[in-house]
Parts: sequence; C-alpha cells; structure tokens
Amino acid sequence: MPTDDLSTSRRLGEGAVGIFDSGIGGLTVLKAIRQALPAERLLYFGDNAHVPYGPRSLEEVRGFSHGITRALLDQGCKLIVIACNTASAAALTSVRQAYPQVPFVGMEPAVKSAVEHTRTGVVGVIATVATFQSELYASVVERFGVGVEVLHQPCPGLVKQIEAGEFDTPLTESMLRGWLEPMLARHIDALVLACTHYPIVRPLIERIVGPDVRVIDPAPAIARQVKRVLEQAGQLAAHDAPNGTLLWTSDEPSEFAVMMTHIGMPRMEVRAGKWVEATLHLS
Ligand code: DGL
Repeated sequence: MPTDDLSTSRRLGEGAVGIFDSGIGGLTVLKAIRQALPAERLLYFGDNAHVPYGPRSLEEVRGFSHGITRALLDQGCKLIVIACNTASAAALTSVRQAYPQVPFVGMEPAVKSAVEHTRTGVVGVIATVATFQSELYASVVERFGVGVEVLHQPCPGLVKQIEAGEFDTPLTESMLRGWLEPMLARHIDALVLACTHYPIVRPLIERIVGPDVRVIDPAPAIARQVKRVLEQAGQLAAHDAPNGTLLWTSDEPSEFAVMMTHIGMPRMEVRAGKWVEATLHLS
C-alpha cells in the first residue's frame, strides 16, 4: 500500500488542491488532475454518507458543499475543485462569494465542445435531475447552444448503480438504453457526460451509442483549467515538491477503497470524515 508524506503534518492539506464529490465520481476528475499536475498534493473527499446528491434540493447540496469547502480550507488547501456537476450547479457561485480570496474550479456541462463537434445539429446531455434544474445549466445552453438542438436527459438512479459497482450489468445497460436510444432516434452525434460519475460507465455508454456519437467527458479540460489557475496565481507546486494523495469518505472507508480499485486506481488508504450536524471533520 503506497504511503504518503502528508500524514505527519498537522494540517494535512497545506498547499494542496482540495477536490470533492458526492462519492466516487470525482475520482475521474482527480485522475485527470494527477496526470496534468504530478507535483501537486491532492486531497479528495467523497460525501458517500449523502450520495446521491442528484435527487436532493439545490439548497441542501449547497449546504453540504459549504461544509466540505470549510473542512478542506481548514486543512490548508490552496484551491478547491468541485468535482461534481450537481454541487457546482448548486454552490459554485455561493462558495465563491463566501471565500473571495480562494480560487475555485467547478464543473460545467461541456455543451460548447458538443456544439463545436456536431454535424447533425443535435446534441445530447445526460446529468442529474438537480443539475438540469440549475441556473448554471440554463446559462450554458443559452450561451453555447445557439443554432443547435440540445436534448437533455436526467438519469435518476444511475449514480446509485455506479456507487454499487454495477458498471456493466443488465440493469445498468437497460436503464442507459432507455435514456440514450430516444436521443439516438433524434440523431444526436455528440453526448455530454455532465455528471462526474458517468465516465465510469463510459465503455457501456459507447457500446450503446456506437462510433458515430462523440462522448464528451470534461475532466481533462478541468485539469487544464486547474493548471491555468494555479499558474496565474503563481501557486504551482515546484517540480520536486512532495506530492501525495489523501482520501476521505463520509461513509465506510474500506468500501470506498474497493471502489477505487474497481475504477483502476491504485490501492490507497482512505480515511473516515465525520459530519457533526453541518460541520465536517477531516483528520
Ligand atoms: N458526481 C455527481 C455529479 O457530477 C453525482 C451527483 C449525485 O450524487 O447524484 O453530478
């Protein structure tokens, strides 16, 4: 089991990039950030005690997001990545207002890339119910969806399937077919994965939509954005800086560790984060 060099310091995330999601989905973003920024320390929190966020109200998700942000900042993080479309839609504006001195990077449905790619003039977006209810989604479609048809399809229950490790089971496939086939019938040629859990089932999605539909995962673009923001702030870690990854979950750490290996991540120690009312404790 790889050890990390962070556990000895008192504030475990001093100078680190803090990343969070409702569960394992944000690990798809963490992977891309690790690839783009090998020298950075990364702190990850998966709020598995509250997953899924998608069916909850934006207000409730905003509350969790503020609690997690506070906890990551208390650990010394220099930048926060909201590696969850739902939490970004619910809370990005308000955490920026609450902490104007902190750089935040959030997820935004990659409608722009889909529109740049389409030849049929029809693109699809899949996300959680809450993401589609947000002002952020409406503004993305208004800004980038001009002149094309943007079909949006919530996928209730898909995050639960993924958190249960059901990446390629008959039930997950039939759920996805039920959502994707009507969009295929309307000739989409680009599909935006606007939930960070969905890239985990990308092979299944690609099998269903076939080679003529481009599947778009914004994680590499988010990683580039994190790099740009750190560069601009003069806060990139030095090449020889001690990097490392620390992980917390608010649910059972051993289950989280197993899920990580299922999605091709090395086995690492996972710590338990504890919610006490609206305050999250990471230690
Ligand atoms: N990964 C979260 C997102 O990007 C999943 C939301 C959920 O927990 O339902 O939206």
